[in-house]
Amino acid sequence: MGGYEDVFRASTEDPEGFWLGAAQAIDWHVAPTRALDASRPPFYRWFPDGELNVCHNALDRHVDAGRGGQAALVYDSPVTGTQRTYTYEQLRDEVARFAGVLAGLGVGRGDRVVIYLPMVPEAAIAMLACARIGAVHSVVFGGFAPKELAVRIDDAAPTVVVSASCGIEGKRVIEYKPLLDAAIEQATHKPAKRVILQRPQAEAALGPDDVDWAAAMASATPADCVPVRSTDPLYVLYTSGTTGKPKGVVRDSGGHAVALRWSMPNVYDVDTGETIFTASDVGWVVGHSYIVYAPLLAGATTVLYEGKPVGTPDAGQFWRVVAEHGVKSLFTAPTAFRAIKKEDPHGEYAQQYDLSGLRYLFLAGERLDPETYRWAADLLGIPVIDHWWQTETGWPIVANPAGIELLPTKPGSPTKPLPGWDVQVLDTSGKPVEPGTDGAIVVKLPMPPGSLPTLWNDDERFVQSYLAAFDGYYLTGDGGRIDSDGYVYVMGRTDDVINVAGHRLSTGGMEEVLASHPDVAECAVIGVADVMKGQVPRGFVVLKAGVERDEEQLRAELVQLVRDQVGAVASLKDVAVVPALPKTRSGKILRKTMRGIADGVDEPVPSTIDDATVLDALRPVLRRS
Ligand code: COA
Ligand code: AMP
Repeated sequence: MGGYEDVFRASTEDPEGFWLGAAQAIDWHVAPTRALDASRPPFYRWFPDGELNVCHNALDRHVDAGRGGQAALVYDSPVTGTQRTYTYEQLRDEVARFAGVLAGLGVGRGDRVVIYLPMVPEAAIAMLACARIGAVHSVVFGGFAPKELAVRIDDAAPTVVVSASCGIEGKRVIEYKPLLDAAIEQATHKPAKRVILQRPQAEAALGPDDVDWAAAMASATPADCVPVRSTDPLYVLYTSGTTGKPKGVVRDSGGHAVALRWSMPNVYDVDTGETIFTASDVGWVVGHSYIVYAPLLAGATTVLYEGKPVGTPDAGQFWRVVAEHGVKSLFTAPTAFRAIKKEDPHGEYAQQYDLSGLRYLFLAGERLDPETYRWAADLLGIPVIDHWWQTETGWPIVANPAGIELLPTKPGSPTKPLPGWDVQVLDTSGKPVEPGTDGAIVVKLPMPPGSLPTLWNDDERFVQSYLAAFDGYYLTGDGGRIDSDGYVYVMGRTDDVINVAGHRLSTGGMEEVLASHPDVAECAVIGVADVMKGQVPRGFVVLKAGVERDEEQLRAELVQLVRDQVGAVASLKDVAVVPALPKTRSGKILRKTMRGIADGVDEPVPSTIDDATVLDALRPVLRRS
């Protein structure tokens, strides 16, 4: 196949040939004759005349090929003391049966199903069951509050919601059913039915519109795979944008299957029969792609872990999982490693397990700080691979392609763009910058298979959010540079998106919640550096004239409001009451300047500032960590 340069060149010189070649690793109902449909820019479609079923590719084809007895999914749950292995045949049967449950509830091709489940195998089963019958799933992360779930229910308009009686968060049992009921109460769209998985830790009382998972499975008729067009949506995954309204990232069926299948051996160096452990959550894109779809498309074994890196019960759990399940590639967010390092700085737990099978550690979701990189590399003595991607792209944009060739690394860079990604850096006027100069990181259109074709029901927002800034380019929202050797450096978001413990959140969304408090006149939320979580939000509120409140109590109310409206995962713990916010003369709050000061960076004061004394007065508050 050749080294990285050869493979990358092949993808740019002959993208049609390259991707049609990659498409051969997928079982098509109708094989595509063309790779890219570029007839309607800026909307691009992959494998336009192909038809397939993604669930067939993830499960049935492996059973048909005689690998039905191989482990497909290992559920490892230290929080419940459970381990369960599903072979490909068992997983296919469970999925077919649940697909029958959904079909019996009236879910058909193109209908949406919202999945609000903790990290249990049923989450993957529900996703694949949707794929089996051509329905579109939308998984909502369990850490989101009812209002966030309601917003997603209204946008996706699901026929059915699949949920559980409870989730287990560390040592706490969180009842999901009341959260789901509250969300449906708040939503305008009312799903016809909810399927509830009863868990023994807290069973839920079921109402007339609720269907018990186990009872429904017992009487269901298994459903077969329904072929869909390559361009049909497989799922919608909502992600934080700059406002409180999340963006429904659409994933197509064929392009996604081809890209993910290609990435498994080439990026993660995991192929049929090998094991990957992605410690994330199916509510995030990392979980969609590398807990569920990619490993199964490749006929690999995936570990679905219900627990935390620390505290469930100790900082040795990742190593235990690696040793017990023969993991070759481990993939998580840097924050998980910071948590382990804090608990076990000398890596003593790692010494207790046989980690000889572990070949790579992949990290993504936030910037990999050099200290964490070094600690992990020293501890494990294997390649630690930082790679950069987003919900929108579905798979990595920039990564050291372990399965092709390990490139020499440079500190702070996830190395070079993967095949198909024409990554460039532009200045504010849209001109390419000199190597080594910071600017907006963009991808020249068309993006490769697997990347989002649009936003759910909102082509216009898709264009406005990503394509309008620079004609012919996708705006990643990240700033950074490319050096003269082609290494990409991702320095952080240039918009109102922050990454808290690898969880993508919108400061704009949090501002909307703070602003809804009756005593608040205006507010700003910024993401500031945090040793453990990478970033955490900090809020600043200005009170309405004449409001006199006990500040401690008001702060507590505001923190609780965000917890109730966005979810605990927002981690907004610090809100300051301030007399005024620094603004430009046109009234724009100087969030970037505030962020810089809070992070201790020597941040220049913009010449457009309206009243510099406001900023000066705020400095001590901002600097307080
Ligand atoms: N359901 C309900 N609540 C949840 C939740 C879920 N699925 N996930 C998180 N929360 C809650 C947490 O319990 C916590 O609540 P608290 O404020 O009452 O303590 C809050 O949301 C914040 O969670 P988190 O940011 O995850 O902090 P933490 O201290 O609980 O854990 C880490 C810190 C680093 C251990 C944890 O974030 C982690 O494992 N991260 C791995 C990275 C990851 O999975 N990233 C996803 C994308 S790759
Ligand atoms: P998400 O959509 O949740 O995957 O978050 C995507 C965002 O996370 C990106 O736009 C980046 O800001 C950040 N991110 C992901 N991976 C990396 C990485 N390896 N280095 C720096 N930032 C990253």
